[in-house]
Amino acid sequence: MKHIQWLVFLTLALSVGTAGSHSGAVGVVKERMDAMHDMGDHSKRVADMFKGKTEFEKITLRDAADAFIFHAATMSDLFPDTDASRTGSETAALPLIWEEKEAFDNLVKEFETQSVSLRDTIDATDDRAVLKRAFFGATKNCSSCHKRFRQPTP
Ligand code: HEC
Repeated sequence: MKHIQWLVFLTLALSVGTAGSHSGAVGVVKERMDAMHDMGDHSKRVADMFKGKTEFEKITLRDAADAFIFHAATMSDLFPDTDASRTGSETAALPLIWEEKEAFDNLVKEFETQSVSLRDTIDATDDRAVLKRAFFGATKNCSSCHKRFRQPTP
């Protein structure tokens, strides 16, 4: 997928997720939805920047990388194998998460690794093409996980 198509795709995917937010969620489901939303907000800000909608500021990208790393660290724990976690609060989490917990956790780890690598890239260069590529490297994990482990939004 070309980068610009990917940006459009990412923005669409995120706005759908945001529009479908569940204000009545509680407990661990609410916690993970809040974490996901925070990452969604950061991603949208960065995508807008790369699209030229907003001025390019490296700090915005760094904040996003930091948020990804922060949430990646707790993500696996936010999907415990309990009834509330599996079926509570209109969760969109698929049972496959717990059937293939290792694959799920590996995806979380991959996401974390790519987010750390994004932050290293931010420290190392001002080259926007390189920064963009590093951002895609991290955010492609959002969609690969959603595609496999989250109910598709209607
Ligand atoms: C390893 C898997 C995984 C990764 C990585 C991941 N997500 Fe998610 N995401 C999920 C699952 C599962 C749900 C559904 C959670 C639920 O409904 O309980 C979700 C839900 C969401 C939602 C909707 C939240 C809501 O209120 O319903 C947004 C927005 C979102 N993710 C954004 C992101 C972004 C942005 C990234 C990357 C920067 C990301 N996610 C990375 C698995 C993942």
